[in-house]
Parts: sequence; structure tokens; C-alpha cells
Amino acid sequence: MLTKKQQYELIASIKGRGEIPLKFAYLDEGAKNWDAIVKQRSDKINGINSVEAELLRKKINNFISSFPNCKKLNIIDVGCGNGEPVVPILDILTEQNIQLRYVPIDISSNMLSMAEKFVKNKYKNIQIKPIELDFEMGNFSDIMFELKEDGYSNLLLFLGSTLGNHSDRQRVLTNFRDSMSSEDFFILGVELTNFSKINKILPHYKGKLPENFLYFIPDNVGIKRNDTEYDVSWNDKLNQVEVKVILKKNSNVKIGSENFTLEKDEQILLSRSVKFTEWTITKLLSDVGFRTELLTTTEDRGYLLSMVQPTRYGV
Ligand SMILES: C[S@@+](CC[C@H](N)C(=O)[O-])C[C@H]1O[C@@H](n2cnc3c(N)ncnc32)[C@H](O)[C@@H]1O
Repeated sequence: MLTKKQQYELIASIKGRGEIPLKFAYLDEGAKNWDAIVKQRSDKINGINSVEAELLRKKINNFISSFPNCKKLNIIDVGCGNGEPVVPILDILTEQNIQLRYVPIDISSNMLSMAEKFVKNKYKNIQIKPIELDFEMGNFSDIMFELKEDGYSNLLLFLGSTLGNHSDRQRVLTNFRDSMSSEDFFILGVELTNFSKINKILPHYKGKLPENFLYFIPDNVGIKRNDTEYDVSWNDKLNQVEVKVILKKNSNVKIGSENFTLEKDEQILLSRSVKFTEWTITKLLSDVGFRTELLTTTEDRGYLLSMVQPTRYGV
């Protein structure tokens, strides 16, 4: 399932940082586990996907007005998941006189197939061009450049508060910035900190579906569920929800041809979800070299959408 390079990255991150990068959980069968979580969220809880969707529906015309006289547009959905989060955007844009191309980008070929199938079924006349890549590995300016052939404009999306899952958020944003030219736009959706809601958020990370999703890689490398305790907590210093496994006994791990032992009481981070404030996300975007074109939040200040562009000459 993992390429050789991914195996080395996984070994290095477990041994070096005590972390299993969340991105590997979406590979292979993991895509179905994620899809089950999204479906449960939209059925039962007013989770971030529906909050984000409502905000997008309200604001998409404002965002799109930044592309005056646009006739051809690439909707580049970075970290596409099952493709459902782009519905508010595609619903509105398909009603306008714009030729659309949906470009899902993801590390997981299964997530890409799911997004492609979903969008193909829902919108008959949209061209779709899935691209499999790991956006943590560097910029993808070549892809962005080729997509602009034949007069297309580029709109990048990074939805679902995915940014908060990454250990090096600055690096991820820098890769995006270095992939964009000064006419391209980028819409980022992130969850904001709401201290009064922390205790309501934590249960979303517990239960059968999140555990199936997050145990996918531990199961695959030989860490037995029964030998671990599943722990969800709020890290006040780092403003993040953390999901860890704590080992109740020594565990033998096998990744490719590498074998090693994790010791009793060691903790391995399976997922982080950083929550931002308006100030921290705006500062992060600005430090990376983005200028803000539009910024909007939900009424309760729980979710934020920001539309940005690379700043020319770093000023
Ligand atoms: C939290 S999910 C969000 C999915 C979707 N945008 C949503 O809002 O429901 C993160 C998505 O990003 C993808 N992803 C995570 N890390 C990635 C990486 N380094 N490179 C490419 N895709 C990545 C995952 O496979 C998954 O589809």
C-alpha cells in the first residue's frame, strides 16, 4: 500500500517524532473509512462540512467576483476527500456561463476516484482531471501552469480545515504559494477556536468510525488495538485536539523490511487538529506571503473562509 518513500517517511516520523502522519490513513481502504465519517457527520451532527458549505453558499458569488469576465475556470480541490465539499461552489458556478474543469488533487488514489465519481454523477458537463500527489513534498507549479493552457484561470480550494491536520502548516502553505502565479486565487477553510465548545468537539474524535479510520495504519504495521489505549485530548498550549494511542505493552512494528519495537507507555500521535483564531490564521497566511482578498466567518466565529493571492515581491 505504501511506496518505498512513504515507508521511510512513516518509519522516520514514528521513530523521530512519535507520530503517524494522518495523510496515510486516507490511502487504500482508508478512503472508505473517511467517507463513512463524512456521511455520519452530515447525517447526525452539524459538523464542520455543513457549516463550511453554508458559508460557501452565502459567499461564493463574492469570491467569484474576483474573476471578472472569466470564461474558463479550474476548480482545484486540494485534499479533495470524497468531493462533496465542492458542491456549494459547483452548484452556483454551473448556473453561470463559465466552462468548468474540476481538478481534485490528493495523496490517495481511492479518494480521487471517489471524488471523480461523485462529481461526474452530479454534474454531467464538467470536465474532470484528477491528480495524485503529496502536496507536502514540494510545489506543483508545473501542474498549475499546464492547467492554465487554453485560457483557464485557477481557483485553488483547501477545505475542511485540512490545514490544521499538518505538523508543518507553514511548509504546506509555502508549497501552495510557490505553485501559484499572481492571477491565481486560493480559498482556505479553517475551524476557529471556541473554548466554550472544546468539550463538545472532543466526542467527534471518539467512537467506532473515527477509531476505524485512525487505527488503519497502526493495524497495518502490527500495533494491536487491544494492546493500546485510545486517547483524545485538548492541548491548550498548541490549540489542538490530539488523538493518540498509548501502548499498554511492548509492540513489534513492521514497515516494509524494517522491524522495531515500541515500548510500553510510549505514546504515538495519530491525529492533530489545530484550531485557529482570526489573528493566527491571518498572520500565518501573511508570513507565508499571501495577501488577503476576502475574509469571512460564520456568525458564531466558529469557521473562517479566506481568499488569498501570493504577495508580489514579498511586500
Ligand atoms: C480532512 S480530509 C478533507 C477532505 C475534504 N476536503 C473535506 O473537506 O471533506 C483531508 C484530505 O486531504 C488529503 N491529504 C492529506 N494530506 C495530504 C497530502 N500531504 N497530499 C495530498 N493529499 C493529502 C487526504 O487524502 C484527504 O482526502
